[in-house]
Amino acid sequence: MTPVPPVPPVTIVTGASRGIGKAIANALAAAGHRLLLVARDDAALQATAEPLRARGGTVITCTADLRDAAAIETVVTTAERQLGPVTAIVNNAGTAPSDKVENTTPAMVADTFALHVAAPLAFARRLAPGMKRAGTGVLLQLASTAGLRGYPFTSAYTAAKHGMVGLSRALHAELGSAGVRVYAVCPGFVDSDITRGAAAAIAARGKTTAAEAHARMGQQNRIGRMHTPDEVAAAVAMLLSARPAGCVFELDRDPPAFVDATT
Ligand SMILES: NC(=O)c1ccc[n+]([C@@H]2O[C@H](COP(=O)([O-])OP(=O)(O)OC[C@H]3O[C@@H](n4cnc5c(N)ncnc54)[C@H](OP(=O)(O)O)[C@@H]3O)[C@@H](O)[C@H]2O)c1
Repeated sequence: MTPVPPVPPVTIVTGASRGIGKAIANALAAAGHRLLLVARDDAALQATAEPLRARGGTVITCTADLRDAAAIETVVTTAERQLGPVTAIVNNAGTAPSDKVENTTPAMVADTFALHVAAPLAFARRLAPGMKRAGTGVLLQLASTAGLRGYPFTSAYTAAKHGMVGLSRALHAELGSAGVRVYAVCPGFVDSDITRGAAAAIAARGKTTAAEAHARMGQQNRIGRMHTPDEVAAAVAMLLSARPAGCVFELDRDPPAFVDATT
């Protein structure tokens, strides 16, 4: 009998138009995943997808604002119709508003929680039944050490990332016995548009340069330097392929490790 080749995984990557999400898309395409990439800026999404298709990857895109609850159904239906049942999602899309608590508006809080907590929960609600039936699947959140510790001037972001880590722990506790793996990946500061924008904002206040502010952020990581997007992507690819047991995976450690064995 001719052996049946394994079916390639179908993975949704949100926030794949730049930064960490783009690096994750590159790493997963190289590992043979069929991908649906999501972001708001279609031109930037195509700039991620085109080189992957040119290398033979199966990569489709869906332009969506994930703060809109209706977008979640559109994204999943697009993946299912064009690629087949979704075997993994990487909830990476995010923004990181930074300001004093007295300037942190209800709109900033609502937007941040919509993107970092409500959207991953809505994807889990939509995907969990199929994954449970299949007895396998991965719900992976791109969290942060801001989901494990407190950082100043980021009250909305830090609260939302704690929410994202808590959501991951709850899903892990609920779905693990059904074969669904749930991970929260927690890097420290990563060299991306988010940290470059924050460094520029600090420099605009006039006390330092953007380069100095950026370097100081990297020094706040326990490993003493910024992570690269490719390092984060390699960790995500490892969790998807090596299938380790655990939930909250902290990158700002040497070596990176699960925060504890029971979560
Ligand atoms: N950079 C860091 O230091 C760091 C550290 C720890 C964790 N993280 C987390 O890593 C993730 C990626 O961060 P990054 O540094 O790569 O940021 P980035 O370079 O600013 O990229 C953010 C991505 O999210 C997408 N996005 C933003 N708002 C969206 C929305 N409403 N709907 C759909 N897509 C949206 C963006 O595309 P569009 O703008 O086109 O929508 C873009 O693709 C975030 O969750 C962030 O919190 C970052």
